[in-house]
Amino acid sequence: MDKNLIDLEAVSTKQIDKIIKKAKKIMQSPADFRHACDGKILATLFYEPSTRTQMSFQTAMLKLGGRTIGFDNPMNSSVSKGENLKDTITIVGGYADIIAIRHPIEGTAKAASLYAGVPVVNCGDGGHLHPTQTLTDLVTLSCEKGRLDNLKIGVCGDLLNGRTVHSLIKTLSKYENNSFVLISTEELSVPLYVIDILEKNGCKYEISHSLADSISDLDMLYMTRIQRERFKSEEDYRAQKNVFVLDREKLNKAKDDMIILHPLPRVNEITVDIDDDPRALYFKQAQYGMYGRMALILLLLQDEDFMIDNKTPQICEHRCKNPKCITQQEEYLPNLSYKKMGMQMCEFCDKRID
Ligand code: NCD
Repeated sequence: MDKNLIDLEAVSTKQIDKIIKKAKKIMQSPADFRHACDGKILATLFYEPSTRTQMSFQTAMLKLGGRTIGFDNPMNSSVSKGENLKDTITIVGGYADIIAIRHPIEGTAKAASLYAGVPVVNCGDGGHLHPTQTLTDLVTLSCEKGRLDNLKIGVCGDLLNGRTVHSLIKTLSKYENNSFVLISTEELSVPLYVIDILEKNGCKYEISHSLADSISDLDMLYMTRIQRERFKSEEDYRAQKNVFVLDREKLNKAKDDMIILHPLPRVNEITVDIDDDPRALYFKQAQYGMYGRMALILLLLQDEDFMIDNKTPQICEHRCKNPKCITQQEEYLPNLSYKKMGMQMCEFCDKRID
């Protein structure tokens, strides 16, 4: 059975703790892991731009003694000649031991996992999910706050299109007594399916339109970029950019031990003069991410009991209608679904089918 990381939803908190523990062990004695993946190959297939995710995955494999192949511009691969996802993935699965994929369309990592024959890691699928960024965030929280529970968490910015936020909320809502302040404009508020998860997990949350009013009792502030590339027009984007900016004045109202995280890249939403504040952890966070990814690679490749995704997907009659779903682009994909609160949901993009 293949082991994949498509959505942290499928991973128990016990398994998440295992990844974090492993990451800390690697941080303490990296030399012990220098040959842990000798002879193994990671393929990074990035159909969308990336700095941190791609390079930290590659560095992670290199530091474990393995090697990497892949592309960061699909137009330099046979994708430019019209090759479909299934064929590309089938071929790469025959070359590599593990595949890390990023794609602009929702559900692509799930689709890839059907054909890879080796573990697939979702490195971002459109505006949907980004589970290894969440691992990065959790390793940071665990190292810097010493806990993943009993936290008041502010998330601010593009909560509609920000996949990092969706994965983060989904995962942290599983831990005890976490509460959320969702800070965004009306237009960029979190998708309903994320609210459903908060409610299902019995998690407290408030909606806010003011960072200044909400900052004072947060334990963590998660800032995000407005996702320009997901907007229909430049005008729509311009109406949203720079609405929320964390500056010195606002930070002065925050607790002394509040930590500031950001998946990066930053585009104005945190002023540069804050970078030297001890609460600003976003650069350190990117370092933690590399260790989290080293731990994930090791566990996926070497731990028999780890994260076997043995859900049996159901074939359903209707096709997902979400225009941003991979099933709209790759016709051969089956109509896979699961049931949630009596509703039929798309296995690829998590949107309602019927
Ligand atoms: C994020 C992403 O790609 O979703 N970046 C990252 O992986 N660190 C956030 C973003 O692009 O805004």
